[in-house]
Amino acid sequence: MKRILSGVQPSGKIHLGNYLGAIRQHIEMQNKFECFLFIADLHALTTVRDAKIMRENTLNLALDYLALGLDPEKTIFFKQSDVPEHCELAWIFDCITPMGFLERAHAWKDAQAKGKKDTTVGLFNYPILMAADILLYQPDVIPVGQDQKQHVEISRDTALNFNKHFGETFKLPEPYIKENVATVRGTDGVNKMSKSYGNVIEIFAEEKVLQKQVMSIVTDSTPIESPKDPKKCTVFHLYECVAMSTEITNLKKKYEAGGFGYGDAKKELLKKLLEYFGPARKKRIELQKNLRYVDEVLEKGATNARKIASATMAKVRRKIGTR
Ligand code: TYM
Repeated sequence: MKRILSGVQPSGKIHLGNYLGAIRQHIEMQNKFECFLFIADLHALTTVRDAKIMRENTLNLALDYLALGLDPEKTIFFKQSDVPEHCELAWIFDCITPMGFLERAHAWKDAQAKGKKDTTVGLFNYPILMAADILLYQPDVIPVGQDQKQHVEISRDTALNFNKHFGETFKLPEPYIKENVATVRGTDGVNKMSKSYGNVIEIFAEEKVLQKQVMSIVTDSTPIESPKDPKKCTVFHLYECVAMSTEITNLKKKYEAGGFGYGDAKKELLKKLLEYFGPARKKRIELQKNLRYVDEVLEKGATNARKIASATMAKVRRKIGTR
């Protein structure tokens, strides 16, 4: 059975981009693959510098995944920091990775271009920790959104580099990026949906907040009575990702007929989102009443993840000569 692995940072509330671009695939794939999924808290440390917020975000992300259908009997679900082998392998990779290689990474180049004064060694090294996350478990497929493609490529190059220095050790992972949701657009109608652009729709937000976020989607100024091009509209783009094909066809007809405003389309999207995420929103409220269960899931996940991670590290230590 092929193995998949992915991670999500606990850097804030999850949004529709996270869900459509990655989380939905993680949940679907657990029936066909051997699955590893982790909360990338050490990566989140590049932006979250408050212990209370880190703990809250981590718990919230675990609740989100369990509510959305992650089955801990099928998926090894754990917290990255519970498996110290991630950091050990990252350091070993650091020692064989040329600086110039990481200087070409998009996230680093963007931070430099924005002239961010608070860029850190951690941000620079981010792709190496990610290579360690991945290669420790020798997965075949990494389901992610488009913005993580380069990081998976860096993992592949890191595997090749290590194998070149120390002999065949790591297999090369493949990214899996679902085409129609590779980059989910945000409510500004321009950028990818992302916390850093403030253009998100948070799937577990209170109904009022969700409504505000949906109603804030930027559209063009075509008057209500005129026909509209659904392909150019962010509301339609998001609706398409969660609705059934008959519903999509119906909405398309309304756009093209005219007499249907963007406000009406937003109301349909909101209704659809509440319906689509209704069961998960309910389940999350139930799960919140039993936080001990969430801790147990993550503890068990960490124990199982460590079995694989420590076997890989035993091999790596022999290869590099520290054992
Ligand atoms: P993160 O936490 O930023 O995002 C989690 C997942 O959501 C996807 N995503 C999107 N997909 C489509 N459209 C969008 N607008 C959108 N926004 C976010 C991301 O591509 C990602 O798949 N570095 C990773 C976490 C990580 C990881 C790993 C992933 C750490 N180690 C090892 C895979 C394997 C990150 O920051 O994802």
